[in-house]
Amino acid sequence: MGGMTLFEALGGREGIDKIVEEFYSRVEQDSHMRPIYPQDLEPGKLKLFMEQWTGGGPRYSERYGHPRLRRRHFPFVIDKLAAGKWLRHMRGAMQACNVPGEAQSVIFQSWGPLAHHMVNDDEDVPREPLNDAVLQ
Ligand code: HEM
Repeated sequence: MGGMTLFEALGGREGIDKIVEEFYSRVEQDSHMRPIYPQDLEPGKLKLFMEQWTGGGPRYSERYGHPRLRRRHFPFVIDKLAAGKWLRHMRGAMQACNVPGEAQSVIFQSWGPLAHHMVNDDEDVPREPLNDAVLQ
């Protein structure tokens, strides 16, 4: 990636928009994943998070506070299969958008374990919706 930030390697805001849209269209067509997500799919938060995570600026946290991803996923029942599929669809979306292999390996080195850390289907966690809560 030679001095590029991940944000640049992904194609900036425009590249991230495309990746996340590809990702949600894969989720939409997946009969295991679709019911986990709200009726109205809204890619906006994942876009802002990816922008922030890759070094493109803090718009996610300016709006929603600390990501606290595991906590924010409690309202959704996530099993092991869903973690694997999430990763597969994100990988597919990045391939479709021609994200360089080197950038993909950096990202999935973190997101592989992160996705599995999100699994909560056999836990007694609070399932009430958080919606657009600002968390500290
Ligand atoms: C393990 C499988 C996963 C499932 C089934 C899953 C599912 C969901 C669902 C249903 C939502 C709420 C609706 C939405 O905003 O689209 C959501 C939000 C979100 N997910 Fe995931 N997710 C998973 C893994 C991940 C991972 C690995 C990341 C980060 C790399 C991530 C980042 C986010 C973000 C940033 C939001 C918005 C959170 C908020 O501010 O409310 N998710 N996810």
